[in-house]
Amino acid sequence: MSLKRKDLLSLATLSLDEIALILETADSFKEVTGREIKKVPALRGKTVVNLFFEPSTRTRTSFELAAKRLSADVINFSPSSSSVVKGETLLDTARNIEAMQADIIVLRHSSAGAAETLARGVKSSVINAGDGWHEHPTQALLDLYTIRGRGMGFRGLRVAIVGDVAHSRVARSNIYALTKLGAEVRLVGPPTMMPCGVEKLGVKVYSDMDKGLCGVNVIMMLRLQLERQGRALFPTIREYARLYGLTAERVKLADTGAIVMHPGPINRGVEIAPDVADSLSSVILDQVANGVAVRMGILYLMSEAG
Ligand code: CP
Repeated sequence: MSLKRKDLLSLATLSLDEIALILETADSFKEVTGREIKKVPALRGKTVVNLFFEPSTRTRTSFELAAKRLSADVINFSPSSSSVVKGETLLDTARNIEAMQADIIVLRHSSAGAAETLARGVKSSVINAGDGWHEHPTQALLDLYTIRGRGMGFRGLRVAIVGDVAHSRVARSNIYALTKLGAEVRLVGPPTMMPCGVEKLGVKVYSDMDKGLCGVNVIMMLRLQLERQGRALFPTIREYARLYGLTAERVKLADTGAIVMHPGPINRGVEIAPDVADSLSSVILDQVANGVAVRMGILYLMSEAG
């Protein structure tokens, strides 16, 4: 089985069958990540290039680990020590990397649409590892995998996505994925951080966090993305934390057994209280662990498609 597409760019364009195939493929690689020798030869002879124009801890590391566990050759390209600083464009950089027989390029970029532009310009497969405010498809897939791993079905699942939705590519990918799968998605946050007309995507919007969390099965917190906000969208961080920070008291408003998610990096004491981040209901580190298996599945399926 393979994905019948050259690139993985968004959840908006991924079908339910493709989502199911990725999650099922991740299951077999999850077993590999639990072995003493965490390596299989599935991508032997293939080359994966991590092309990250923005900082990353989780995504870059887990793509590297995933590719290495599949026995691929991995190049971590660092724009700051490359000819990008001499003015080389993204497309020229990628075409030069491609000329060295790269099979898969994993791209993170600050511009929405960068991955799609690159995919049109190169023959290698392109995986979007986050493009501006647009999408972060592999994050949403590992989020789905983590929810499913907790024994939760998606149809009718109540999910609150809380915080700076407007600047969040993670929120956008999860909205596309979860609504497609039949979940009830609530967006919770200040009106200044809510995209205009977002209800058209089939979600409910709440500015009152306590109401938005009432009875949900999943609380997905978002980082306050101060670096993406051109102007102050909230009076003070303290005020934001008071109105939209996830505390242990607020978790009690959710359904019994609700899980707390966060794509990371977390701002402790801002969008999430430290005791909640470290609580038994938190699956934040499970998300990170699952990221390796899900990305192994994606790399495998992309290499089969190519
Ligand atoms: N979740 C996520 O994308 O984290 P990084 O920015 O560390 O990759």
